[in-house]
Amino acid sequence: MEKNFKRTLITSALPYANGPVHIGHLAGVYVPADIYARYLRLKGEEVMFVGGSDEHGVPITIKAKAEGVTPQDIVDRYHNIIKDSFAELGISFDVYGRTTSETHRKTASEFFRRLYEKGEFVEKSSMQLYDEKADQFLADRYVTGTCPHCGNTNAYGDQCEACGTSLNATDLIDPRSAITGNTPVLRETKHWYLPLDKWEPRLRQWILEEHKEWKPNVYGQCKSWLDMGLQPRAVSRDLDWGIPVPVEGAEGKVLYVWFDAPIGYISNTIDCVGDDWEKWWKDPETRMLHFIGKDNIVFHCIVFPSMLMADGTYNLPENVPANEFLNLEDDKISTSRNWAVWLHEYLRELPGKQDVLRYVLTANAPETKDNNFTWKDFQARNNSELVAILGNFVNRATVLIHKYYEGSVPVAGEFNDADLAAMNEINASIKACAENLDHFKFREALKDAMNVARIGNKYLADSEPWKLIKTDPDRVATILNLAVQICANLAIVCEPFMPFMSASLCRQLGLDLIKWDMAGRFDLVQAGSVIAKPELLFEKIEDSVVEEQVAKLQHAKEQNVLNSWKPEAVKPTVDFPTFEKLDIRVGTVLECEKVPKADKLLKFKIDDGMGGRTIVSGIAKYYNPEDLVGKQVLFIANFEPRKLKGVLSEGMILSAVDADGSLVVASPSREVKSGASVG
Ligand code: 2FM
Ligand code: ZN
Repeated sequence: MEKNFKRTLITSALPYANGPVHIGHLAGVYVPADIYARYLRLKGEEVMFVGGSDEHGVPITIKAKAEGVTPQDIVDRYHNIIKDSFAELGISFDVYGRTTSETHRKTASEFFRRLYEKGEFVEKSSMQLYDEKADQFLADRYVTGTCPHCGNTNAYGDQCEACGTSLNATDLIDPRSAITGNTPVLRETKHWYLPLDKWEPRLRQWILEEHKEWKPNVYGQCKSWLDMGLQPRAVSRDLDWGIPVPVEGAEGKVLYVWFDAPIGYISNTIDCVGDDWEKWWKDPETRMLHFIGKDNIVFHCIVFPSMLMADGTYNLPENVPANEFLNLEDDKISTSRNWAVWLHEYLRELPGKQDVLRYVLTANAPETKDNNFTWKDFQARNNSELVAILGNFVNRATVLIHKYYEGSVPVAGEFNDADLAAMNEINASIKACAENLDHFKFREALKDAMNVARIGNKYLADSEPWKLIKTDPDRVATILNLAVQICANLAIVCEPFMPFMSASLCRQLGLDLIKWDMAGRFDLVQAGSVIAKPELLFEKIEDSVVEEQVAKLQHAKEQNVLNSWKPEAVKPTVDFPTFEKLDIRVGTVLECEKVPKADKLLKFKIDDGMGGRTIVSGIAKYYNPEDLVGKQVLFIANFEPRKLKGVLSEGMILSAVDADGSLVVASPSREVKSGASVG
């Protein structure tokens, strides 16, 4: 049964302030949350849209250490970048806070304290890795060692990136501290645990029975967690960055970042409305929705609700419309590999194109499965959808009104069947759009909104006012009046998705105020009112623009190959007599030329001190033949001669393989006699 709520609290995952946000974050969380918030506001509903930065946790301390600055420096830097770039993209938070604020420290400490005093935690001691040189316990990320599953010698204490297995730091073979390189020791430490198992029956009832309408990916993940059985979870950590555990005997311990972060939603609400915050969190007539990515499901559907149940005075979320992941050019987005489109860079490099990004990310939203962003698709959607359908329709309608009526909207006469059919179709699209928005199906809803423009285009093309202007001006007045009304409908239904375009269209049409329930009406722009000179809503994106972006990604990939280069494993041992069988010599290049019809091969004439020989080598991609003449090279003199592209090669020139795969010819460090032995 649908419940009636008075207001909606929309939360969006607090991004970690250890880097900027990228298109994966936007498509998964912030664009859909913003579409929904804008939609509800257009409907006149009472809404609060909460965002903020997540400024605690180990990765922030690691980054700070690597850069030689404080964790506070790191979060100050990224909080501002993230906040500003969200604002520029039109993400309409009512509040954007941060978990290092004083309000948050107080709110999170009091939350912990309340649960502590109610006896909701279990205190337990366990053995954790401790770095005696650094004099501190090591978070899992601060330990590296050999993965017990695949033998990777550089696995992290929480995960092996070679085989993907989740680990505990104590599982690692030969663990090392990432701070000092020392071998850590096991030491006992006490922590507070939230017994999730206590809440399991209520969670089962609440999710599995009462929220069968949740998205299948979310419901399925919750069910599998619940079916595995829940365990108590530690909510404190031995770390010096975070909110101190507010009880005696907890020196050096802070709240676990996943304990304090969701409380950040509460703190930010308090910062937004002060004492009025409780109505947003405790009034049963408030509906709470968490917009998150799939990696956050367990925290928002199991852990945070258990915290809220343990407190006992809060609402639980009504829905958690989590998304899957967005890939980039068919590869997983990765911060560490710089395989991402960063929002702040996009805004700088493609200025004024906020709505294009919002549109493309919504059209490709990873709602039911992982999805993919490519620059080619970005360009195609802009040019053949936004420009060719939406922009074109609005432009045609407004240009004709300027051409025939000097911009003054003509009075409509009686509507005919074609007009009524177009209106009906538009109404059906608007209704479908609302229904899809109500069910968090933003991709479908966007298609419905665009459909209004498609219908408008077809209506103009079919009714051909340009052919009737001489013979039937009254009919033309009706057609163009209706066309302008369709433009006004577009300004409304597109607002949640493309607020900048909508605002510009409203300005052109002289619409001061739009509301969702005005959509479907065809009297929104008054006859006689003068509309502004047509401005293009979208412009074509040229090949060079997207090529530049692709080249930037390609560069990131190459850098990454170089940075992640490791020497090949050493081959099995050989004994001295075996080594001695190889006859390596120094030769001087007398002539060098390309081998015809073989783009990889160079043919060398070598002075080997013994009358000369010919050697063919596969290094043509890396050298100009003339540059090698006169150089000394190392070659294997007793390599079995073989024919390459018809040329008999009498030896092999030695080259080093660089990180990018390029070959570099090996030479003696000063000139020696041609034919000298190497050994
Ligand atoms: O996964 C993340 O990026 C987390 N910083 C999300 C936190 S959501 C909430 F709990 F604050
Ligand atoms: Zn492994």
